[in-house]
Amino acid sequence: MIYESKHPLVRHKLSLLRDISTDTKQFRELVGEITMFLCYEACADLEMEPIPVTTPMEETTGEALTSKIGLVPILRAGIGMVEPIWLLIPNAQVWHIGMYRNEDTLEPVYYYDKFSGEPTIDIALLLDPMLATGGSAIAGAARLKEWGVKKIKYVGLIAAPEGIAAFHDAHPDIPIHVAAIDSHLNNIGYIVPGLGDAGDRQFGTA
Ligand code: PRP
Ligand code: URA
Repeated sequence: MIYESKHPLVRHKLSLLRDISTDTKQFRELVGEITMFLCYEACADLEMEPIPVTTPMEETTGEALTSKIGLVPILRAGIGMVEPIWLLIPNAQVWHIGMYRNEDTLEPVYYYDKFSGEPTIDIALLLDPMLATGGSAIAGAARLKEWGVKKIKYVGLIAAPEGIAAFHDAHPDIPIHVAAIDSHLNNIGYIVPGLGDAGDRQFGTA
């Protein structure tokens, strides 16, 4: 399943994010703001359980999340999506995945994770702003499944049709939540119209 946010606030902020004149500070802020909205939408089906609550007026029944949630940012660019989700889900665990794309082959190069033993989370939000060829997200999701995580959702900012098709082929069980589905990949594997290099624009390394 692919979910493209139709929310006017997301669409407005996405245009600012894409703009070449948006500076590094504003870019990071926009990544955070859009991520919060996407996370809110992606978490709409989280499981709840009833809990007793004492208000100043009486005993009542409230609700609490039952799942242990893990945020799994793919380095580097996924890092900027963690803090904004922590504002919404403060007790979420964070499990980093280190990966970069070989710019010649466009294949992901895996270099880091700390998964071991039984998974300590029930649901993982795999975080990476750009789904281009899909190679990085596919490898990240495969590693989460290898660890034993049963429920995974991908949350990103922009996806190319090529990446969506490849990801669905590899992981038909994992929904994709993005702010936009763009036109295509160019001849060097960048999303068009896209926003350029999400890592460089967040970290000022362009
Ligand atoms: C970017 C992006 C994704 C990947 C997407 O990372 O953040 O991880 O490319 O491309 P794909 O779908 O074709 O795999 P990059 O390799 O530039 O690393 P960085 O985040 O460290 O800049
Ligand atoms: N990675 C990025 O940061 N941007 C793209 O357009 C594709 C991959």
